[in-house]
This record gives sequence, structure tokens and C-alpha cells, in this order.
Amino acid sequence: TPPEHIRNFCIIAHIDHGKSTLADRMLQLTGVVEERAMRAQYLDRMDIERERGITIKAQNVRLPWRLGDQDHVLHLIDTPGHVDFTYEVSRALEACEGAILLVDAAQGIEAQTLANLYLALEKDLHIIPVLNKIDLPAADPDKYSAELANIIGCQPSDVLRVSAKTGEGVSDLIDEVVRQVPAPVGDGDGPARALIFDSVYDTYRGVVTYIRVVDGKISPRERIKMMSTGATHELLEVGIISPEPKATKGLGVGEVGYLITGVKDVRQSKVGDTVTSERRGAPEPLAGYREPQPMVFSGLYPMDGSDYPDLREALDKLRLNDAALSYEPETSVALGFGFRCGFLGLLHLEITRDRLEREFGLELISTAPNVVYQVFLEDGTELVVTNPSDWPTGGKIAEVHEPISKVTVIAPSEFIGAIMELCQGKRGQLLGMDYLSEDRVELRYQLPLAEIIFDFFDSLKSRTRGYASLDYEESGEQASELVKVDILLQGEAVDAFSAIVHKDSAYSYGNRMATRLRELIPRQQFEVPIQAAIGSRIIARETIRAIRKDVLAKCYGGDISRKRKLLEKQKEGKKRMKTVGRVEVPQEAFVAALSTE
Ligand code: GTP
Repeated sequence: TPPEHIRNFCIIAHIDHGKSTLADRMLQLTGVVEERAMRAQYLDRMDIERERGITIKAQNVRLPWRLGDQDHVLHLIDTPGHVDFTYEVSRALEACEGAILLVDAAQGIEAQTLANLYLALEKDLHIIPVLNKIDLPAADPDKYSAELANIIGCQPSDVLRVSAKTGEGVSDLIDEVVRQVPAPVGDGDGPARALIFDSVYDTYRGVVTYIRVVDGKISPRERIKMMSTGATHELLEVGIISPEPKATKGLGVGEVGYLITGVKDVRQSKVGDTVTSERRGAPEPLAGYREPQPMVFSGLYPMDGSDYPDLREALDKLRLNDAALSYEPETSVALGFGFRCGFLGLLHLEITRDRLEREFGLELISTAPNVVYQVFLEDGTELVVTNPSDWPTGGKIAEVHEPISKVTVIAPSEFIGAIMELCQGKRGQLLGMDYLSEDRVELRYQLPLAEIIFDFFDSLKSRTRGYASLDYEESGEQASELVKVDILLQGEAVDAFSAIVHKDSAYSYGNRMATRLRELIPRQQFEVPIQAAIGSRIIARETIRAIRKDVLAKCYGGDISRKRKLLEKQKEGKKRMKTVGRVEVPQEAFVAALSTE
């Protein structure tokens, strides 16, 4: 297809505003999927995506569309909607010339959508504002058209209105995509350059890499080169998705499709990288490639120590499909053998944990998440700490740097006070505030990333009765007064409970953990002190009093079978115990103490 008849676009929308439903309607209207083959959310392929209702991996599809008497080829590029995947969103946007900004007509724009809109505007994408769900009785299209017009600087009458559910307005919307989105431009005769905007591991075919050709042509049976690493691969297949994969004779300027090389690991096919041909390589890659950087770390341990090899195998498998996941073995005195894992953010952590438990049947304990700290010692050495147990001991720390982020919250204006109070309590600094409409406000804060990953989102939701939406992006680092708090049982530090916190929260963390553990750990034959300490300084203390654990005393001699039963029961209980020094701690205590509530 000549580039002038190609349109590449994506849909920017908040979770649940109807992106998948709209994509489904487009598949139907363009005749790509027959009515009876249609299943809800055709493009969300992974089960877990369907259950959680979020799109993790970008999918793309080629749609034929006739406007007047001209045939066109449209490529819909599906973008992940969540904050943790901003980098993937930004690469997917890079593959488009236009974006549909899809907003629920009963809810208005949300923080993540706004953030993605700004990303799209930065990349000079043409924006088509659209209100969805106009069939809902609660829809207020006049109010939200005005809001959208105000944000992107157009007329309220430019905002299209559709119902992805009934199909109303969707055909007109596709016409507008053809009319408004610019055609791709590129050098058709130059050396090949294609942008990788997604890659997924497929059990049967190996890694499937999604590309958008910018210059030249990608043809099957030639060797290609990944420009970030210089690695070369033989091309086994080049094709398009419509909506199932179909091999083609090649992809030209502006075209979107996939390629298969037989590699088995997505890390050899990195999102953001440039593909060129080996024989006639491009001198310069496309701009903006970045290695995925883990921002949040947590220890993952099998509940049952004998599952450790299974956990390793499961992680190896997940990594085939997730270039951003990193892990290395670690041991904890309290939890045994496990892995220190790095994630892009909290959601990435949760999804990974969820998949490990669901798809691989593992039961896991995860330690409290932490960010990456840069520690400068007085003797001039610099440490990168991703694990509280690597925190230097002794008083030789000169300075500690922690990552900070820019946070955007959108909420009804009645919650301004509650949100400000929350952000202030988390060491936040107000950067600005704007009214989006009469009763909705956007607040911008700078907050340490460590404060956000802990329980910020949950607190925000509960303080705003679920009405606030949140987005954050990394924005450098700052020097902070941070300390490591240890939790000691009978004088012995339990590594799984150590945390790096700001010095002003050290006491409350220590106190909270000590109180919680006093309730969770059963009485033992001896007294057990629980202490929180910074180095050798004790900052909180609780005590579990001793009991004489004579269970048989209840049996008044007589009934021998009852006695045996009790003893059996006690033994059963022991199996689920971990021992810290002489103290027996039930497995559940670790799980409960480490949960953020
Ligand atoms: P993610 O893929 O999870 O980001 O969500 P999404 O934005 O794709 O939302 P999805 O298409 O899953 O729609 C969310 C819910 O809204 C579903 O229950 C849809 O049935 C419903 N929905 C989508 N479009 C419309 C619409 O036009 N009208 C009505 N009434 N409901 C809609």
C-alpha cells in the first residue's frame, strides 16, 4: 500500500472508558472479524488481562476502510494504559501519526489519560477527541465536551460522540480518522529502519516482534540487525495482523506488522530498538531508545521452601515475555531461599506476583517493596542499594539519594483538602493546581517514589471515595535523611522486616511493626521482646509474655485418643512455623506483617 493511503493511530483512554469495546466495534465495521466470530475484547489476548480488565501488552491490527471511492489501510495500535508502562506507551505512540482520545461521557478525563495525551502532543500526534458511552443515562456530553475542548484547545463541537457498545457514531469516527490523521512519510528507497513497539513470546513461534516501518522495506529471507546491540538474525517471516497473523512479501514505509526470527527471549527484541537490514544497514537508529529500568524491588519467596526450583523456572518463563522483569537469587534468614526481583512499578509487581501464583500454582510471600537508593559514604565510595540488607552499617554514610516523581491527581474539587493532607503527610511538595471544569481539579505534586509505591494509591482512593485518578512519572532524585529500621525478635534482626524509611517515619514504622507482630506471633515458652532499632539504637519495644504451653493439662488424664489428637495438631502447626533464633513464627505472621493493609 502506498503511504498516502495508510493511517496509523492509537486509542488513548483510561481503564474502563471503553477502548477494547471500541476496538471490537472497529474490527466488526471494517469486516475484519465476522459477527459470529466476535468475542468480547478481541484484542486482549491474555486471560489475566481479560480478568483484570487491563491491557498489558500492546496489540495491533490492520483494518481496511473505504472512504468515497478510495481504499485505505488503517493500523490500530493498541497501547497499554497504565502508569508503569509509560515507556511502552510512548513507543507505541511513536508508531502513530494520530490518536483517538477516548473519554467516558459520564466520567470525564482521568489523570493517566491526561498524562498519555501530553505524551501524544509532545510527539506531535493529531488528536481526535471522542466521548464514549453516550448511550448511558448518566452521560453528560455537553459538560465533558467543554472540558475536553478546554484541555486540548479545540471547539466543543469538534468533540465526536460515540457509543462503542451500540456502535452509534463509530463509522463516522473511522471516516474522521482517514480525514484527519496525516499519512506516514518516510524514505522508501533508503536503508530500512523499523521501530519495535512491542514484542511477545509465543510458545510455538518464539518471539514475535511488532514493528512500524519508517524508511525502506523489511523483506522476508533477508538478515536483519538490531541497532542497539548489533545482533543479527535471520528473518523467518514478515506479516500483518488482520486480526490473525498473515505472512506477507514485506512491509514498506508506514506499514505496521510483525516479524519472526526464531529467537527465544524478548530481551533480544527490545521495545524502542530500531531494526535495519544487515546488508544495507542504516547509519543512524531512530531516536529515543531506552533500556527498561526497574524502579521497584521486592523479595519473592515460596511459602513452601521446596517450591524454590519451581519459582526459578516460573521466573525464567515469565522473563521470556517481559524484558523489564529482573531477578537474582537471594537468601533470607527468616524466609529461606527466594529471589530479589526488580519491577517497573507497583502494578508490574502485582501482575507478576499474580501470574506466578495463578499460572504456575505457586504460593508466595513478598517482602515490602522498596526503591533504588544511592548511598554516598564518607570515604567517597558510592553504593546502589536495592535491598535493605545491603544498607551499609556503622555511621559512615555521608548522603543518601532517593528517586522522586511528579504526580498528577485528578479529582472532584470537594476532595482538594483530603488530597493535600495526604500528599503533605508523604513528604509531597505542591507544584500546581488547575480547574479542568467547575467541579474537577488537577493537582500536581512532587513526591518521593518510595512514598507512592507503599500505599499511596489505596489511601488516595479511600480518601476520595474512589473518585481520584493518579499518574506519576520519574523526575530525578533528591538527597533525603533516610535510615534503615530493623525489627528484632529476642535481640535478633529479622531481615524480611527491615525497611528503609525517612527518619521522621522511622518511629511509626517501628512501632507499627512491633505492635502487629505482638498480635501475630503466638506466645512461646519464654518471654519474647520485639524491638525496632536504627543501628544499635532501640526506638520501639513490645513484649510477648511467656506461657506454659501445657496443652495436655486440659485433658484430665483419661481419654488417650484425645491426647494423641492434640499432640498431632500441635505437630501440624509446627510445620507451618519458621524459626527465628529460638522464636517460632507462623508463616501467616510474615504474610500479615508484610501486607500494606
Ligand atoms: P481496558 O482495556 O481494561 O483499558 O478497558 P477499556 O477501556 O478497553 O474498557 P472496555 O472496553 O473493557 O469497557 C469497559 C466497560 O465499559 C465494559 O463493561 C464495556 O461493556 C463498557 N462500555 C464500553 N463502551 C460502552 C458504551 O459505549 N456504552 C456503555 N453503556 N458501556 C460501554
